[in-house]
Amino acid sequence: MVREVLEHLLTRTDGVYVDATLGGGGHAEAILERLDKNGKLIGLDADVDAIKSAGERLKGYGDRVTLVNENFKNLRAALTAPGVKEVSGVLFDLGVSSFQLDEASKGFSFRADERLDMRMNRSQALDAQAVVNTYDEQRLIEIIKFYGEERNAKRIARAIMHVREKQKIETTGQLADVVEAVTGNRFRTKSLARVFQAIRIEVNNELEHLQQALLEAVETVERNGRIVVISYHSLEDRIVKQMFKTESATTIPSAHKLVPDTRVSPRLSVVTKKPVVPTDIEQAENPRARSAKMRAAEKL
Ligand SMILES: C[S@@+](CC[C@H](N)C(=O)[O-])C[C@H]1O[C@@H](n2cnc3c(N)ncnc32)[C@H](O)[C@@H]1O
Repeated sequence: MVREVLEHLLTRTDGVYVDATLGGGGHAEAILERLDKNGKLIGLDADVDAIKSAGERLKGYGDRVTLVNENFKNLRAALTAPGVKEVSGVLFDLGVSSFQLDEASKGFSFRADERLDMRMNRSQALDAQAVVNTYDEQRLIEIIKFYGEERNAKRIARAIMHVREKQKIETTGQLADVVEAVTGNRFRTKSLARVFQAIRIEVNNELEHLQQALLEAVETVERNGRIVVISYHSLEDRIVKQMFKTESATTIPSAHKLVPDTRVSPRLSVVTKKPVVPTDIEQAENPRARSAKMRAAEKL
């Protein structure tokens, strides 16, 4: 959705833009291409490998690019090193990159047999092994049910507990075997994707970090600047939608019918009344784009 991102994010060619999820640097490069020589890009990623590879890709832009290995929940703190207080726009393209899933041996994918890890930031203590081997059954059910939206959550959590009694679940292959034994071959891929996604969301505390980051973005973006978010999960999209709704509201409803609603000054105006989704061509070319939803808001 590069074209749609640029259309919704860029309001000036000499602005300072933040790509809060740098990944391979594709969006960052497209943004830089549209800016003039005064325009700058600050790229964040929690994964130091993403910072390294995007750094290679963007090195031709010299000092117009600053890359910071930081979680986007600390957006404002990340901007203190480059000495920036206000930015013209912030982009979030959530989740993991194809590189992290397919090549980086980070234990995100059920398609390869790797150490069960799933940390975007390798210096954090909690990893997928800890979640799968130490969380109690009830918590595992909740994670698989709510973050994975998987209807066999109870049976899968039970099966994990059963295997755990005999041996530690250390690899993505072992976890995949447990899930497959419950769901059978017919729903195999969908259930595996849901369970792996659920554990990844827990390991990286993705929903809470998104909420914090959106608040920081609202405070950091200049007047008429934009916040653009591409999400791939209904819970993420709900957080974005709700945050934009709250920040664009002109009243806070009163709890009592005799007390009038409180008037407030909204900080945002919602640009996309409905989420923008990828074109049929993009969906056909890139299966991962199928669940993408893009929302944009403007600072008032
Ligand atoms: C879908 S990829 C972004 C791809 C990128 N737009 C591109 O054009 O290549 C998401 C990236 O965001 C990073 N990420 C996810 N959550 C993060 C967080 N809380 N803080 C910083 N980076 C995060 C991941 O490490 C990953 O590299």
